[in-house]
Amino acid sequence: MTPALLTDFILMADSKPLPALNGNSMAAEALLQEVFGIVVDEAIRKGTCASEKVCEWKEPEELKQLLDLELRSQGESQEQILERCRAVIRYSVKTGHPRFFNQLFSGLDAHALAGRIITETLNTSQYTYEIAPVFVLMEEEVLKKLRALVGWSSGDGVFCPGGSISNMYAINLARYQRFPDCKQRGLRALPPLALFTSKECHYSIKKGAAFLGLGTDSVRVVKADERGRMVPEDLEQQIIMAEAEGAVPFLVSATAGTTVLGAFDPLEAIANVCQRHGLWLHVDAAWGGSVLLSQTHRHLLDGIQRADSVAWNPHKLLAAGLQCCALLLRDTSNLLKRCHGAQASYLFQQDKFYDVALDTGDKVVQCGRRVDCLKLWVMWKAQGGQGLEQRVDRTFALARYLVEEMKKREGFELVLEVRVAGWEIKASLLESVSTLPQVAPVLKERMVKEGSMMIGYQPHGTQGNFFRMVVANPSLTLADMDFLLDELERLGQDL
Ligand SMILES: Cc1ncc(COP(=O)(O)O)c(C=O)c1O
Repeated sequence: MTPALLTDFILMADSKPLPALNGNSMAAEALLQEVFGIVVDEAIRKGTCASEKVCEWKEPEELKQLLDLELRSQGESQEQILERCRAVIRYSVKTGHPRFFNQLFSGLDAHALAGRIITETLNTSQYTYEIAPVFVLMEEEVLKKLRALVGWSSGDGVFCPGGSISNMYAINLARYQRFPDCKQRGLRALPPLALFTSKECHYSIKKGAAFLGLGTDSVRVVKADERGRMVPEDLEQQIIMAEAEGAVPFLVSATAGTTVLGAFDPLEAIANVCQRHGLWLHVDAAWGGSVLLSQTHRHLLDGIQRADSVAWNPHKLLAAGLQCCALLLRDTSNLLKRCHGAQASYLFQQDKFYDVALDTGDKVVQCGRRVDCLKLWVMWKAQGGQGLEQRVDRTFALARYLVEEMKKREGFELVLEVRVAGWEIKASLLESVSTLPQVAPVLKERMVKEGSMMIGYQPHGTQGNFFRMVVANPSLTLADMDFLLDELERLGQDL
């Protein structure tokens, strides 16, 4: 390097750094105070206020203009940045709003949010005790609690970036346990495999089969009954048929709380089939897992303790905030680490000064991994198990109320009362003003453009479009249930 070039480098290294946020930098601190004020006013206070809009709909071209998305070479002033933060919030959907029924997650829990803010600020990765001492210990404690609710006194687990990923991990683990060679030899080590799930399963099972090289053809679709629950007799038939065709069955994925109908597969009967055929039982309880907290309703998941793995998303029914997705395992043989570990020597040195078993990063296929346990831990500490149980029970009661109110109204038809022992997690409703499948999309367009409400619709089987009502937000009241029915009537009055 020439002396001139070296001088340039040194000058560059000595140029103005990003201001430190240690209190000396008034500007940076003031910016964050202002942003936090905007978040509290616009996203939290207004974003959860029933009289405010759920969303301010704009057509994509107009929204692009309003947001001025282009990234330029010149930076902007603090005023401009604050205005941009306001705009981001203004045009985003407020999923914590009491009229947001669109997804299986909704609501804004203040304690969970506190955990999310701390997580974002500390900005660490969950992989080693060295850089995440608090969260390594906390993750294990939270997973232990969730496992205990499943009915396991020991086991393993990890927080995953989504329930879909948890399901894919379960498939990979089941395959590895049966064919450990496939870690090294890949698909060459495998006979044609078969896995089984009901027609009501989440689409991530098929995606997982494709992603893991099994192919979607390896997913055998088992019949569901009129309420959407897997038929165990058909499962057994399908297993026998697959074997007769030369495939090797290795996993059954049952669902506890299906995505559209909210059905709970009969886990005891399915576990019996798995036991008879020596198959790994995975329970996708992404939606329904939180029901385990309720003494009154946990019987819906009877038999879950017999599973080998469970996917459970506290960000759905418990409103812990995206993302909070636990994959729980009954295994105590370090299967996760054996299946996914790569022993990177720059990260997982074996001669560290502390117990290297605390470096949990090699359990997963990711390198860096978000901290997802803190939001649930803070919320649990604040609410206690009892508070969370009451929340789950309330959602059952609100859904029950909604169904009863709907039955009193002429304009609605209950497509399916997803009732198991007197309870519905989701009431599906259809505007009977017209049985045309276009009705739901028209109502949807109207509600979104007015910003008054958001609720999802879909066709299902032979059934045309209908609205799927999800009760998950812990702040919902009877008034919100009444509003839903009134608003659908109002939006559809001229149809
Ligand atoms: C039953 C079920 N499993 C898995 C998932 C996927 O979860 P995630 O969106 O966290 O990937 C969903 C999502 O709604 C679901 O309903």
